[in-house]
Amino acid sequence: MNVCVIGVGYVGLVTGAVFADLGNEVFCVDNDKRKIDTLNRGEMPIYEPGLKEMVKRNVDDGRLVFTTNLSKGVKTAKVIFIAVGTPPKPNGESDLSAVEAVAKEIALNLDDYKIVVNKSTVPVGTGNLVRNIIEKHRRSDVEFDVVSNPEFLKEGSAIADCLNPDRIVIGVPNHHVAMALLELYAPLERTMLITDVESAEVIKYASNAFLATKISFINFIANLCERAGADVSLVAKGMGTDSRIGKEFLQAGLGYGGSCFPKDTLSLLHTAKKFGEDASILESVIAINQDRVPRFVRRIVARLKPLNRKVIAVLGLAFKPNTDDLRDAKSLEIIKALQKKNAVIKVYDPVAMDNARSILKGVTFCKNAYEAARGADALIVVTDWNEFKLLNLEKLHQEMRGNFIFDGRNIYSKERVESAGFEYHCIGKQ
Ligand code: UDX
Repeated sequence: MNVCVIGVGYVGLVTGAVFADLGNEVFCVDNDKRKIDTLNRGEMPIYEPGLKEMVKRNVDDGRLVFTTNLSKGVKTAKVIFIAVGTPPKPNGESDLSAVEAVAKEIALNLDDYKIVVNKSTVPVGTGNLVRNIIEKHRRSDVEFDVVSNPEFLKEGSAIADCLNPDRIVIGVPNHHVAMALLELYAPLERTMLITDVESAEVIKYASNAFLATKISFINFIANLCERAGADVSLVAKGMGTDSRIGKEFLQAGLGYGGSCFPKDTLSLLHTAKKFGEDASILESVIAINQDRVPRFVRRIVARLKPLNRKVIAVLGLAFKPNTDDLRDAKSLEIIKALQKKNAVIKVYDPVAMDNARSILKGVTFCKNAYEAARGADALIVVTDWNEFKLLNLEKLHQEMRGNFIFDGRNIYSKERVESAGFEYHCIGKQ
């Protein structure tokens, strides 16, 4: 099938590569010429395991094309995916200006029946909005349909998630259009759920907000455990073995970051308020998450005060492991708070260092965890990269001036760390 994907951000690029890998002819379009040039040189604008190889394979075979020529992409395709960004406005509302601009461009280039699919995360009602824009700007009465097909991929496992999704949600205005999408996704042999457009739009936000709720809930329980002398890891295990609850997303820590949960919870909150619904449940989820870093920093200050000129090694900058993404990363928030108190910051991350260099000022970038630890008074774990779990703790201790570890992701066992000579502080246990 001929497919056009507009927007080569995380979702668009991975989706385009996977559709091409399934044998479709794919045009990936973006108005950022530098990004398209980068991709045409075979370089990836993001770090994602397996992506580079998949892109190369399909570009070499001629099934995947990167271009700024939206008109050609739209005219060639039967199905057009909108996968542009929907960043938050200051009030939490999703900024749909890129979606609106693309809808208008599609309308101006509509020469034949097309299926326009919203893959961007967009608030309920956006399908209608896109339909209205296209109707207004199309040059003739040529037919089209607007579909909602939200993406659930996670950074760091995006290709695998895209190839093996738990479910494929397809929100359609009629059954005829559903057939084309079913045909496109059939090779994946996964569960497909056909709904109306509005329900599909709500499913995406409801899913992300529910997962964010699980995280904030376990973080609330972690706070309680710290006071009551319980161990949140054991509590999460005990809860997670109940199949109705499930063990996923019950890892207490510094809270959720990244490009989705923070913005999607705020957007859903905004939508709920717009419809006049009480959303205090979401307000609590967001408030708990926003207090994770201040609470962690308060604990660091309580043990190290005054922080003035104290050297702190930060392990992990990416918002989670296996990505170089720093969007809404807890590391940035923590470093800013510590720098405000005049702490000296040394950092190390396995893959996010290049991205961090343009964002973080006044920190020392180190080649590895041991170099970051050298001369430090305290070491803090911000991202749960596997390589940090396997560090030689005795060696780490020798490198340091002080003996504090503040583990924001609970990657170590207290006994092990203490036997290496450290004073250990982690989340949700004493
Ligand atoms: C998320 C959704 O999982 C995905 O379905 C959607 O398409 C996009 O948003 P992503 O942001 O890539 O994906 O990361 P995810 O693995 O879900 O983690 C989000 C954040 O939650 C990270 O900051 C992570 O550290 C945190 N987290 C996750 C926890 O603090 N505890 C957990 O138990 C799980």
